[in-house]
Amino acid sequence: MSEAVSGAIPRIGEVAPDFVAETTQGVIKFSEWQGGKWVVLFSHPADFTPVCTTELAEFARRNDEFVKRDTKLIGLSIDSIHSHMAWLQNIKERLGVEIPYPLIADIDMKVAQKFGMLHPEASSTATVRAVFFINPDRKVQALVYYPLTNGRNIDEVLRLLDSLQTSSKHSVATPANWRPGDKVIIPPPRNVEALQQRMARTDMEHVDFYLGFKQLEKPAS
Ligand code: BEZ
Repeated sequence: MSEAVSGAIPRIGEVAPDFVAETTQGVIKFSEWQGGKWVVLFSHPADFTPVCTTELAEFARRNDEFVKRDTKLIGLSIDSIHSHMAWLQNIKERLGVEIPYPLIADIDMKVAQKFGMLHPEASSTATVRAVFFINPDRKVQALVYYPLTNGRNIDEVLRLLDSLQTSSKHSVATPANWRPGDKVIIPPPRNVEALQQRMARTDMEHVDFYLGFKQLEKPAS
């Protein structure tokens, strides 16, 4: 059993590495391309492979939902720009889906290495299915890794994005299986005064001193 490669994965709260890369929408400097928005950066193992094709198409079908959340999608694999272009054309012809977000051609693996997307026991030449949720300050808010064989659930990517954005906006936590509209968790008090103030609150449901829920106001539509 080989030991985990240490240090290469950007962790929660850290600033995501910046990079310059060739993509299907031209050369980008990540920090400039991000433009102060949330980003979901995802890697896939290889072009012209079945699971990846379903994922790429599903991210594309749901692109408007990411846009609504002020979030930009960007994909990556260790393939050439010509392979990416041919694959996107093939997806358009076979599935009728146009890919509206850029795909990074990381042929020299520089970006994959910066983001810890290469897991040698899974493959030394193909990225695993990583998803990085990056906030407008370029800080990593969550990261999820799937193996080569199993496709991601885009509903869950959107659910986690909603959850992260809600936590960030309202300084709250979200319970298991939370969905937008559900009650959120108010983080537990850290001192006696805060505890007394909290227990006097009538705008939240107190299960115990450490577990309290609140219904957020519905945004005006
Ligand atoms: C796929 O996308 O189908 C796939 C890619 C690499 C390994 C296994 C499956």
